[in-house]
Amino acid sequence: MSSPVWHPFTQHALTPDATLVKAGEGAWLDTEKGRLLDAISSWWVITHGHRHPQIVEAIKKQADALDQVIFAGFTHQPAEDLARGLIEIAPPGLSHVFYSDSGSTAVEVALKMALGYWKNRGPENQGQPRSRIIALEHAYHGDTIGTMSAGARGVFNAAYEPLLFDVVRLPFPARGREQETLALLRDAAKGAAALIVEPLILGAGGMHIYAPEILRDMAAICRATQTLLIADECMTGFGRTGTLFACGQAGISPDILCLAKGLTGGSVPLAATLCAAEIFDAHYSTDRSRTFFHSSSFTANPIACAAARANLGIWQGEPVLERVAALAARQEERLARFGDDRRFSGVRRLGTITALDLNVPDAGYLANVALELSQFFQARGLLLRPLGNTIYVMPPYCVTAQELDLVYDAILEAAGKFA
Ligand SMILES: Cc1ncc(COP(=O)(O)O)c(C=O)c1O
Repeated sequence: MSSPVWHPFTQHALTPDATLVKAGEGAWLDTEKGRLLDAISSWWVITHGHRHPQIVEAIKKQADALDQVIFAGFTHQPAEDLARGLIEIAPPGLSHVFYSDSGSTAVEVALKMALGYWKNRGPENQGQPRSRIIALEHAYHGDTIGTMSAGARGVFNAAYEPLLFDVVRLPFPARGREQETLALLRDAAKGAAALIVEPLILGAGGMHIYAPEILRDMAAICRATQTLLIADECMTGFGRTGTLFACGQAGISPDILCLAKGLTGGSVPLAATLCAAEIFDAHYSTDRSRTFFHSSSFTANPIACAAARANLGIWQGEPVLERVAALAARQEERLARFGDDRRFSGVRRLGTITALDLNVPDAGYLANVALELSQFFQARGLLLRPLGNTIYVMPPYCVTAQELDLVYDAILEAAGKFA
């Protein structure tokens, strides 16, 4: 009998039955068809490797003490400790932490915080409170209605277009076009509620990389126009780009910071939206209509918070940044042989992430080659899931040099077959 499960971002008519995964350890998954090297960190969440002992231990211990509790009017130690820990390591100026459970909800919360802030501040110059959102071309912020609105429009959300709200879309600040983006931002930011960005690299939109200086300039324009800056670090956070947070490379502090994926080391779902004091303060009032009206049943689940607290412990107790630097260097070495290979273009790297576009006639996210490539890699014991013709490698930080060789040898072999 075929499975009743409907899988995410999966065209069931075109893909073989989902592979049954039985276990995971380090950079590897144990499946019904054999072992797979998890070269995309299970959708970019696994940072240290599957089942880091400290995180597993923390989950077990917390499950034995308190599994779940309503988070309105109640709190618990893992949530309290984690919030303090996050504020300590986050870019300066962030003072409050709102929990949710996925990257999409972290961003929804950020957008709602921004609009709540402007609503509670009241109209400016007898006008309406600010409500305009500015976002980048190729952006991806999630799959809920608000996050799809902020994200790039395309085949993923065409059916839902009537539900999406308008945003001001800035061209991606590609090399040579940065000043155009900044000039448009200068105009758009006047009277805008917020600019939302994926700092330094736009992930699902195609692994597009831009310079820290541009992020810094965008932040300066936001500051000058009092437009809130939302940094969506759901993917970039926790070391992916070479530093703990990508914002650090630009030396900026956003007004709102979204974290998810690697927050628990990728073990269990949890997200956090951090904000500056003035955003919390705008909601702080004896007037109940100024409450931040957002919740989900599992807000700040104690087990998830305990896992995230253990993750912060690993960052503190283990040389994670050194590991990240070593991985980044190894990734750079592996990429070198593709630089002159005319079957590829856009060979690029940021921190631990590499990407390269396979030159095929039907480029783009719906390129047929994507499904074939995924299956090709899986047959070679690798979990890689190209974005259209863009192959990217985003492994857990525990991956070894030999394991990376397996990945890049297969990419070379794929070029022979598909390009
Ligand atoms: C930058 C960014 N924001 C938000 C999300 C959405 O996260 P989630 O899939 O956990 O809802 C993603 C997911 O890939 C992402 O890359």
